[in-house]
Amino acid sequence: MDLFSCDVLVVGGGGAGLRAAIAVAESHPRLRVAVISKVYPMRSHTVSAEGGAAAVIKAGDSQDAHAYDTISGGDWLCDQDAVEAFVREAPEEMLRLEHWGCPWSREPDGHVAVRPFGGMKVERTWFAADKTGFHMLHTLFQTSLKYDAIQRYDECFVTRLLVDEGRCQGLVAIELATGKVLAIAAGAVILCTGGCGKVFPFTTNANIKNGDGMALAYRAGAPLKDMEFVQYHPTGLPFTGILITEAARSEGGWLLNKDGYRYLQDYDLGKPEPRPVLRSMELGPRDRLSQAFVKEQEKGRTIEGPYGHYVHLDVRHLGEKLIDRKIPFVRELCLKYMNIDPVKEMIPVRPVVHYMMGGISTDIDGATPLAGLYAAGEAACVSINGANRLGSNSLTECLVFGARAGQAAAEGAGQRGEPSPALVAQAQDEQRRIEERFLHGTGGAEKIATLRAEMHQTMEASAGIYRTESTLKEAAGTLEGLQERLPDVALDDHSHTFNTELTAALELSYMLDLAQAIVQSALERRESRGSHQRTDHPGRDDGAFLKHSLAYRSADGRPRVEYLPVKITRWPPGQRVYGR
Ligand code: FUM
Repeated sequence: MDLFSCDVLVVGGGGAGLRAAIAVAESHPRLRVAVISKVYPMRSHTVSAEGGAAAVIKAGDSQDAHAYDTISGGDWLCDQDAVEAFVREAPEEMLRLEHWGCPWSREPDGHVAVRPFGGMKVERTWFAADKTGFHMLHTLFQTSLKYDAIQRYDECFVTRLLVDEGRCQGLVAIELATGKVLAIAAGAVILCTGGCGKVFPFTTNANIKNGDGMALAYRAGAPLKDMEFVQYHPTGLPFTGILITEAARSEGGWLLNKDGYRYLQDYDLGKPEPRPVLRSMELGPRDRLSQAFVKEQEKGRTIEGPYGHYVHLDVRHLGEKLIDRKIPFVRELCLKYMNIDPVKEMIPVRPVVHYMMGGISTDIDGATPLAGLYAAGEAACVSINGANRLGSNSLTECLVFGARAGQAAAEGAGQRGEPSPALVAQAQDEQRRIEERFLHGTGGAEKIATLRAEMHQTMEASAGIYRTESTLKEAAGTLEGLQERLPDVALDDHSHTFNTELTAALELSYMLDLAQAIVQSALERRESRGSHQRTDHPGRDDGAFLKHSLAYRSADGRPRVEYLPVKITRWPPGQRVYGR
């Protein structure tokens, strides 16, 4: 086993992770920062973000308006102190990115261009055509290269956090190219590993998004907040789940049912405007649009295809020129993956798991309740997204809270001596576990793919857009059964070089823990709020549930749910109103 050390160790090389590492290097130039990532940073999921990043920039907009849209969009489950910090720091972060080289799209007069986005009642979404994530990640990556203090461990898979004397002091990882086990001691660790969409079968998320960091924190004793809130994006391509960005609707695209009818007019989301308008009903919040799709399907007004029911996204009326200028990637994706040209044909779309509102519970500076451990980005729950995130808030969240977590971790890293013998012993235990359990183990007859498929089926059936007590209870039982069968998974591949079967087994074990946390938190929240819709408890219940769930991992591995009050500063709970 190789032993390394650094002052601040960032796990994840996406938007939040790189922003955190840069924040440490800028604010504390003497500290040694390490970024460890299971993929090369430019392959992190941030790269696939399309539509844009929100921040107030236009005359007529205000930080209070951004805060209100975010809080009402989140069905009042957002912590309002976090939202206030977010909207305040968002414009500075976006301008900083511009100075670092991000090519934001511009208006003809040179001003930064902003587009409307779902649930935002004012145009405030900055974009770089429809490849915003690519350009943001590229900018962050090239900026990180300026700092000698930032050292990278690319393609290393983290298997355990090292906790001694109540403090997170490092981690153990496998170097994927060699199978070598590394232990890295650190004064502070920041988890920026993204979400866990792959717990579900149909998702926009890349294969790498298995919730590694969430599971690592959960196993180390940190709670997961609001895990029941899973966002479905209304427009994914059937079969692949590839995202067709909300920007297509923001530029004026329509959602049509099987009769060619703009069905959203039936769901309190506004009128069918003939031209793109700011508060067009197609730009309602994602929870409401995905719920409307289910209702439309129940009415028999969707189209049945080989990969499930779908509706049409129609952008033909926008014309080739606008499509090629504003949403070229939409055209490219449709041509490559569906053999459809949206200039001439309608795009089949259906709701798809996109984002986790929940995650590792942190305070406003990214600190978790476990000393020495921080989190930011989708892996974390600060919480600014509440029960339903507004599109384009998450890229900005990576910047604002990545920077905050980096600074707080740098300040909290303290004086770090040599790793204690207890820490080294833990790392050696972990190396033994990997070798004995997986690489030398003969195991039983279970297959990773079988257990994963059963988990997927269970999650789709119980924890989708609509949920109910009986299916959630059944799911909790099924997931426990899958956990019991997990030790019987045997690997056929015992090699040390890019052993993808080993990482798939470890990822499955992470996902099962998270699936249990999602289902248990959903089971115990007996109300409907935002993306969590209980058919047996159809209304929002602020009296009983204006609070965050906190899922802890009990000694027997099952989740235990506790609650934490929501922080309300200036916006008491109200009704969510959309449309004109
Ligand atoms: O539709 C989109 O471009 C997604 C954006 C987001 O999730 O923020």
